[in-house]
Amino acid sequence: TPVEPCTFALFGALGDLALRKLFPALYQLDRAGLLCPDTRLLALARDAGEESRHLATIAEHLRRHVPGAELDEGVLQRFLGRLDYLSMDFLQPGDYAALADRVGAAERLIAYFATAAALYEPICAGLAEVGLAGRARVVLEKPIGHDLASSRKVNDAVARHFPEDRTYRIDHYLGKETVQNLIALRFANSLFETQWNQNHISHVEITVAEQVGIEGRWGYFDKAGQLRDMIQNHLLQLLCLIAMDPPGDLSADSIRDEKVKVLKALAPIDAAQLSQQVVRGQYVAGNILGKSVPGYLEEDNANAQSDTETFVALRAEIRNWRWAGVPFYLRTGKRMPQKLSQIVIHFKAPPHYIFAEEQRPLIGNKLIIRLQPNESIALQVMTKEQGLDKGMQLRSGPLQLNFSDTYRSARIPDAYERLLLEVMKGNQNLFVRKDEIEYAWRWCDRLIAGWRLQGEAPKPYAAGSWGPLSSIALITRDGRSWYGDF
Ligand code: BG6
Repeated sequence: TPVEPCTFALFGALGDLALRKLFPALYQLDRAGLLCPDTRLLALARDAGEESRHLATIAEHLRRHVPGAELDEGVLQRFLGRLDYLSMDFLQPGDYAALADRVGAAERLIAYFATAAALYEPICAGLAEVGLAGRARVVLEKPIGHDLASSRKVNDAVARHFPEDRTYRIDHYLGKETVQNLIALRFANSLFETQWNQNHISHVEITVAEQVGIEGRWGYFDKAGQLRDMIQNHLLQLLCLIAMDPPGDLSADSIRDEKVKVLKALAPIDAAQLSQQVVRGQYVAGNILGKSVPGYLEEDNANAQSDTETFVALRAEIRNWRWAGVPFYLRTGKRMPQKLSQIVIHFKAPPHYIFAEEQRPLIGNKLIIRLQPNESIALQVMTKEQGLDKGMQLRSGPLQLNFSDTYRSARIPDAYERLLLEVMKGNQNLFVRKDEIEYAWRWCDRLIAGWRLQGEAPKPYAAGSWGPLSSIALITRDGRSWYGDF
């Protein structure tokens, strides 16, 4: 059934995110019959000129980004019929009157800010000035600030006009089907939850490897770096979902309260611990799938002196009853050999070992949660090699659930489809609360301050490799290794 009708105003409608992700996601909601006939879409951007030309640009991107088999001409025409384009300068208070005219008496307004965070404040003020703030939900894209102080400034500016329960902060990882599955996996299967603590788990790995480089975003990325771009949000959110205590119910605040507790318990990493616990890397020229690719400093518009990191590996600890002594190894980088987001939970060996000594390193179950691509969950279990000549020789093999094989009929929706639908429903579960963002920044700021103090350049790694050698040392030092490398 369609969700209640709304007017969806997209600020920054001709930007990369809107064209590549948001319009295709809205189209998919329409195709799935989830948009009410009365739901209207307002594309807002600065570009003047014919409305029809801008609508054609949006249509052209839809044809490019929606897979052919999912592009239904009838739905596309219906979708375009919902869409209007309005040229406005978000910094001009005078331009908001035209927006108010277009919105008219519509009861429900969703204002999605796919713009630079510097514009959030003027947009909020503009909406308030024409009386639209009182009934709107606002959706904020990341990055919200580049440290605790600047993120507070943005959040406070938004909060002057919008209460927290109408503010939706996006971390698109939370919209991924497999990320939501972490909640189902943990709290609908008592098998796992009874094992989910330091008595049974030895360590946890979270890898978010990207094959892409900077993709024409050098200017933005160079000011951020991989810690701010990926760890502060996506990886810490994954860590929270793995580490949090069971929430009392599925309400947004119950879940977010538990996540905040994890962030508060993250042990700070100070300058003195940096060399043992954190590795920063920057890619140099290398090879991906047999094709040579330039280094970070040779990308278009690069400043050849930059010491921004494109890779981070770190060893985090959570100081609480459940996780004492269980390291969480996180790593993420650009230009790695493949796109792979994966969480590996390593269980401890059984307390008493009765098999051949040389097989001891094999022992230990692993739960491997593949978030993307080829979404799957596999539990590595020990069995015996079969054959008369084998005796009690052990081997490790997967009990495996591969989503596309098992649930053939179901298409896996893109993260933004889920997130936009939840905003329309007024459900904040999959959005980040202000205090979550702030605790995450607090932890990252400390780390960044340590880097600054230390003043070391990031370690080079070849594009197409798994990162600097020291990221391997980071885990082998503890007698472990990254799962599945090489
Ligand atoms: C974004 C980052 O938030 O996430 C990008 O800004 C990154 O740098 C992207 O490439 C990764 O998202 P996904 O969904 O492709 O894993």
